[in-house]
Amino acid sequence: MKVGIMTGGGDAPGLNGVIESATKYLNQNGVEVVGIVDGFEGIFDLNTIDLNRSRVDGAYQTSGTILGTSNKRGIGEDAEEFIEKFNELGLDGLIAAGGDGTFQALGAVSDKINILGIPKTIDNDLAGTDMTFGHHTASSLISKSIATLKHSANAHKRVMILETMGRTAGWLALNGGRAGYSDAILLPEKELDMQAFVADCKEKLSNGRRGLVICVSEGVKYQGKSSIKKIVEGAPEQERLGGISDILANALEKELSVECRNVILGHLQRSEPPEIFDQLFSMELGAKAAELAMEGVWNKGLAYKNCGIKSVELNEFCAPPRRVNLDIEEVRHARGLGIYI
Ligand code: F6P
Repeated sequence: MKVGIMTGGGDAPGLNGVIESATKYLNQNGVEVVGIVDGFEGIFDLNTIDLNRSRVDGAYQTSGTILGTSNKRGIGEDAEEFIEKFNELGLDGLIAAGGDGTFQALGAVSDKINILGIPKTIDNDLAGTDMTFGHHTASSLISKSIATLKHSANAHKRVMILETMGRTAGWLALNGGRAGYSDAILLPEKELDMQAFVADCKEKLSNGRRGLVICVSEGVKYQGKSSIKKIVEGAPEQERLGGISDILANALEKELSVECRNVILGHLQRSEPPEIFDQLFSMELGAKAAELAMEGVWNKGLAYKNCGIKSVELNEFCAPPRRVNLDIEEVRHARGLGIYI
């Protein structure tokens, strides 16, 4: 048997863990493994590398992906060519780690080739699974950054606004912001009420606080408008968000008469080495995919549900993103702790 492993979409800490674990498991059982280079491009260009135990050894400790990835190319109208090239590579099946864009694209060929889907995104917003790897590591960096920024905020009596990734879902801001006890967490799931937000900041500052740290998700809209940083033509998801923290810092400074500064954490959130949770999570996903491939079970996705990995229909990952529900206990508790949400 010969199996290909591919990583698609934006990178997330843990991708190399999936590659290492799946390769070692399959190799151990006499299966030939090749890595597809740069996501779908590697299939179209017949660009692969041989993977074996020594080649992947220790990769799990690093972020990025040793295979390369791309969030610029899908399969689009080229499904037939994709299947032809896939067969030319002599592959019996494909283990694909990706996000909604990757799985939507694979939907066009999933009745013709064997696929096992492993969901990933630091945003944690993929439908069909309760959690994706990379999210813990990214949230941990957000939490550490908030704690670090408190020093400068207090030193200068300033409001520091930290901007997280997450697209239209606020999980990164919510989890990183809660872990770091930020003073406020602004989520795309809640319309920004500038008056109430300013009032909360004023109250905190008048109660003897020297500085504040606010955690804002890039998807928050100011005066009903998203902050679009870039349009990537031809990408499955064309709009790239960014810059809301700058807009908010200027607006807040006028309202509070306190200096405000913004920090955009950006791609550092994707580049941290995976922490132990993501190391183990990605190891389990890779091993489970290899196990299913050995059993001849294909065209499934691997979801995290009820504290374990379950196989689900591949198209479950293609439903609209899973966003933060403001009624959850975590939001209520954070508010109880004095965090403005
Ligand atoms: O979906 C993952 C993600 O990191 C988002 O949080 C972010 O908006 C986007 O990707 C950034 O994409 P790019 O790497 O193209 O700038």
